[in-house]
Amino acid sequence: MNAAIDAGVIARAYLAPERPFDRWHANYARWKLARDPLYPGVLPLLRDDPQPLLDLGCGIGLLAHVLRGAGAAQAYRGVDFDAAKIARARDAAIRRQLQDVTFDTADLSLGVPAHRGSVTILDMLQYLPGPLQANVVSGAISCLVPGAQLLIRTGIEDASTRSRITDAVDRIGHRIGWMRSTPQRYPRREVLTAMLESAGLQVEWRPHLGGNLFNNWLVSARRPA
Ligand SMILES: C[S@@+](CC[C@H](N)C(=O)[O-])C[C@H]1O[C@@H](n2cnc3c(N)ncnc32)[C@H](O)[C@@H]1O
Repeated sequence: MNAAIDAGVIARAYLAPERPFDRWHANYARWKLARDPLYPGVLPLLRDDPQPLLDLGCGIGLLAHVLRGAGAAQAYRGVDFDAAKIARARDAAIRRQLQDVTFDTADLSLGVPAHRGSVTILDMLQYLPGPLQANVVSGAISCLVPGAQLLIRTGIEDASTRSRITDAVDRIGHRIGWMRSTPQRYPRREVLTAMLESAGLQVEWRPHLGGNLFNNWLVSARRPA
């Protein structure tokens, strides 16, 4: 899908010699990187960003592999409240010897960790109820130094069939045990835009539909330098 992203190399980082029959995360990584426009979409925006990056709800840490694989060298810190995913993220980063990459367990419903630089929130807002979504977004905004950016990939609540499909797939992810938390609701575009613009950020929305049926959008919000 994107020459700069080698799904095979990244997927192999999730194969643990001590668990030879456990291929779940490797298979997931290969599928996600090959099918989802998320990483090809954010990579051009982040590749040359010198700001340290805080990745909120980082899951198994695929973004760190995508960035380093494309030569991006900014400091990367991923946080997620799922300790098992953070353990997998750490293992895979060590196996591939990713430099300046760290992972920590953190529950974002309790607040955003201290950070100064750029921030990503990729496919995680819907797991928080509305008021906590707003807390996480405003916490992320407060991390942005001049020139830094906040990238949010999210579904949007609207009346479309895509919106209903996105919600249904999230619920399946929770039922099969991949997602610890139940999806709550998606943000509304006008609410998110108002938050970002009232903080003085330059906001751009891009449809992020790819070849699938999800109602995904990529929002980039930059603090002017
Ligand atoms: C759909 S996954 C996205 C993972 C990654 N950002 C990506 O795009 O590949 C959503 C992630 O948000 C995390 N998450 C959900 N609620 C959270 C919370 N309250 N605090 C921290 N992480 C949370 C989940 O554990 C999960 O890893």
